[in-house]
Formats: sequence, C-alpha cells, structure tokens
Amino acid sequence: MASNNDDYISALDEGAASPAPAPATRHADSASGGDESATPALSGLSRRQVLAGTGSAGLLAAVPVIRTRSAHSASRSSAASDGTPEQIHLTFGADPATSMTASWASPDKSVRPRVRLSGSHGPEVELPAVQRVYTDGINGETVWTYHAELRGLRPDTQYSYVVTADNDNAAEPFSGTFSTAPAGRAPFRFTSFGDLATPNTQWVLSYGQSAYAVAAVESFTPLFHLLNGDLCYGDLNPTVQPEVWRDFGNNNQSSAAYRAWMPVPGNHEIEFGNGPQGFSSYLTRYTLPGNGIPGFRGRWYSFQVGSVLFVSLSADDVIYQDAGAFVAGPSPLTPVASTGNPPIQPGTSFYISGYSGGAQTAWLERTLAAARRDPSVDWIVAQMHEIACSSSVTGNGSDLGIREQWLPLFDRYQVDLVLNGHDHDYERSFPCRGFDSMVGTEATTGAPVQTLRPHPVTTTDNGVFDTSQGTVHLVLGGGGTDANLDDYGLDKSDGLTQAKVFTHANRPAPTSTAGVYARAGADALEDATWSARRDTSTGYGIAVFDVDPGTRAGGQTSITVRYFHALGADPVNPATGEPGAPNHNYTEFETFTLVKPRSDRGRG
Ligand SMILES: [Fe+2]
Repeated sequence: MASNNDDYISALDEGAASPAPAPATRHADSASGGDESATPALSGLSRRQVLAGTGSAGLLAAVPVIRTRSAHSASRSSAASDGTPEQIHLTFGADPATSMTASWASPDKSVRPRVRLSGSHGPEVELPAVQRVYTDGINGETVWTYHAELRGLRPDTQYSYVVTADNDNAAEPFSGTFSTAPAGRAPFRFTSFGDLATPNTQWVLSYGQSAYAVAAVESFTPLFHLLNGDLCYGDLNPTVQPEVWRDFGNNNQSSAAYRAWMPVPGNHEIEFGNGPQGFSSYLTRYTLPGNGIPGFRGRWYSFQVGSVLFVSLSADDVIYQDAGAFVAGPSPLTPVASTGNPPIQPGTSFYISGYSGGAQTAWLERTLAAARRDPSVDWIVAQMHEIACSSSVTGNGSDLGIREQWLPLFDRYQVDLVLNGHDHDYERSFPCRGFDSMVGTEATTGAPVQTLRPHPVTTTDNGVFDTSQGTVHLVLGGGGTDANLDDYGLDKSDGLTQAKVFTHANRPAPTSTAGVYARAGADALEDATWSARRDTSTGYGIAVFDVDPGTRAGGQTSITVRYFHALGADPVNPATGEPGAPNHNYTEFETFTLVKPRSDRGRG
C-alpha cells in the first residue's frame, strides 16, 4: 500500500486538488479561508492539530477536534459569495466499519467549510473539510467541492452530521445521518444500478425516472448503494457539463446524504478538457478508498463489508469499444477562450483504453489473490461499467477486452458476482467459468472470430447458483437515463439468444455526410449461451442484495438477489412501440440466491 502522499500527489495530476483561479465575475476570493489547495480549512485550528495522527502526508484526512468557540466565530469575508452546501453525498473510507467521507459542492468558494459530527458515544466534534476544485475545460466554470473524512467511528453505529460554512446561506445548515458498516461477518443489504442521469430533461439523456430511482434506493434502506458508472452524461452536454453534474448531485442527495453511494467511472465520465482520462469532474467530486497506485487514485478501489470484498473497476481501461466523449461534426466543439483550450475537431473521440498501462489489472490480480488468502472474505463482488456478458441489441453489447484481461482473473480467484451498467436493461448470466473458443462470427461477413465466449457451468435456471463453480454477471444499467435498451438479440437461424461483441476498436470514421463522423457498433456476434434471464418489459430497475453470512465456520453463506423493475417506464417500448412515462412503482421481476461455502473452514 502506498502512502497517502502518493494518493495526494496523484490527485494533483488531474488538477483536482490544485488551486484554480476563480473567474473574477463569479466570486470574490476569501481573505480568511486561506485554503487554496487540498489542505483543510485551517481557521480555528493549528496546522499541527490538522496533521496530528495522519502523518505529514495525510492532507486528505481531516482530524476530529472538539468544537471550539473560534471554530464558530464567523468571519464572513464576502457577502456576495455563496458557500451553501449542495450535492451532499457520502462514500465509505478505507474501512466502512470505521470511516465515512462527507462530500459536497457549493456555488462559490466556501469559507471555513466543515462538518459537525455527533453520535451517542461522545461529544460533538467539528472537522474541517478539504477543498478540491477543477475548472471545466469546455465552459471554463470553476467547481468548488469539499470533503471531510470521518475516521475512528464505531462499527454498526448511527451518526448525525451537519455540513456548513461561514458563507452558508441556508436558513438552517444541512443535517443528515448515516450508519457505519458492521464489523466482521454480519448480515447486510446493498443495492445497485448504473446509468442514472438527472431528472432535468433539458439535458441530453436525462429523464424523470432518475428521481424515482433515487427514491427506490431509499425505499430499500440499504447499508450502501453501488452506482455502476455513466452517472449523468455530462459529456453529451459538453458546453454545460458542470450544470449537469449539479443536477445529478442534487437529485442524489436525498439518498446519498444518508448512506454511502459507491461509484465507478463509465464512458460518459470521460470529458473533453478535463484531465488525462477526462475524469476531473468525477475525481474532484468523489473521495474514494485509495488503491495505492501513484497517478491513479480514485479510478479503481476496493473495500470490504462483512464477508464481502467489493472491487470497483474502471473498465474503460481494458475495453475495445470507443465510447467516451466524441465530436461528430460537422462543427468543431469550441471551448470558451478563458480555458485556453483549442477547438476539438469533428471526428475526435477521447479513447482511453489502456490508460493505466496494465497497472489496474496488476492491482486487480494482487487484490483478488490477497482476498482468496483471507479467511474473512467469502464473497468477491466486482463492480464495473462496461460488460463482458450483454445481449442487448439496441445497446452496446459485450466487450472482448474484459473477457481477455479480467475474466481469467475472475476464474482463477473465483469472483462470485459482476455488476455492470452501460446497457440500459436487465440481464443475468448463468454461472460461467472458462470460455468457448472460436464460436463467434464477424457481423458483416459471417467469418469465424474469437470472442472468448464465457462458458456456462450450468444452464439449469432453478434460482439457486453455487458461485464457487462460476461467476454470475448482472447488467444493471436501468438507473434512469432516457434511452431504454431492453431489446435483446436473437439468432433467427437457430432461435437462440444472440449477443454483439466488440473485438476491435470502433474509432470514428467519416460518414456519407461531409464533415460528419460516426462510430460503428460491435463487430462480432455469438450465440449467448451464457444468458439466463432478460427483462423485456422495461429497461428500468434496481437490484437488492441481502447477504447472509451463515452461522458457523466452514458452513454455507448466501446472497439473495431481488430485481425490482419500473413497468411502463420505457420512453418507447421496443416490443410495442408504445410511449411510456416515468414510474415510481418498482415491482419484483425475479429473485434468485447465490450460495457457497464459507472460507473459514477449520478456523472456527
Ligand atoms: Fe456507458
């Protein structure tokens, strides 16, 4: 594990933690805040207090201090600046049983941003928040975000918290609650979907279902929620990316301020002008567990709750598909002059496959190997945006890159469950191990092509699956975005389900219209023998997972999975052509159970 210093430095290389000049028209800088970089707001605290216990490199950590009068003596420096917290959300720290990070944004620079934390086990404490900013590379707006890392918490305990600043203009500061994870083997619930967008239909791919989706998370009261990439589609609204993120953050707040929402980056987090992988907005807004890899903080990570290790991955690093930000033309995308960025010409896409140079896959193997040596880990759940097993015909489909680079590791280390987004539908695979070789065909010529088709270890769909025998893949891209993709492939020659597979990069190519470019769909096809269940009735839903750790060492443990869907929510039903509308009522589509032996055999 690298030091926090590595993580801190790596945050800088996205520009996320570095000071950005504020637009003169948008805010007057503070004389009292003094927090122009990733250091906590120091007013009322000595630098020694802030650094105590974290090591000199631990600048991302805020250290609890007992509230003092000075911490409350407001010194408003600019009545015009608005430091009111918004877009408030929680993420787990390195140990979900003892740490939580509260993050938020404000319209202008906050003056002495801070959290007040209280529980039933001690006095209220006040923590300064770290400021991180970025300036959008297209429209030049500076985004102010704040992060307070709460450590030393008690497991399985509820806390209350307040976020505020000296220039918080709310009548009452925002207050929320959260619970830490239990320690050791314990039952818990989590939920998941991806592809959420915002309820503001002014934005491309936003749709009203995204508000109901957030309410659905709250209705199941999970310990935490996994958000499987394509958060808000800022890249598809390139001149207003920060505004789209703002609507996303404020929509999520009604759940994410009360329980951790753990995201992964998807292809629509890749934004022109925003860092080497386009992730500056994502990385600035989220504080995520470290991965110890210099230069790559926040892009992938792992955390353990109970007997489950969650491995959250950045699949754009390994896929063939080119699906990031793209200028189709005929006009270039021209950033505002203040950014200093040149026009982005038609036919340009932001393709980041291979961006970690193998570092992520090496980290993944180390992480999985360590987990399988650890008797406290029964289950490994991988979370990523793009998909190894999808048979959506209107969507993206499957990607050979994941099959080549990660599925062999999932086989070797017996990953139990893979959760995806990307295609806006629901699909469940049978447990799979290994692959069927050379069973794909090129889409245009029918020539044989290698797709490394995942091999199902059973095709009996009896509702109970032993994942020690094979990995189950779930497509959960039905968060709320405005394009249902619940139309699935069928091989008309044999009546079998059929999947599209990317086996090559679909880089932009000229179209018949002068100056206009397009990216092709997947280039290969295969019979999807791994596909067990597809929801043809709606593209929208949420998965609910209940982990039963079992009762004795070496005994059986299980995860019950229920998928709930929002019938009628498809903007256009692919089967009937009928228009639909957002639906708040999520009803059960299917339930199944994953089982396996615990890993603490002989240790009880
Ligand atoms: Fe996607």
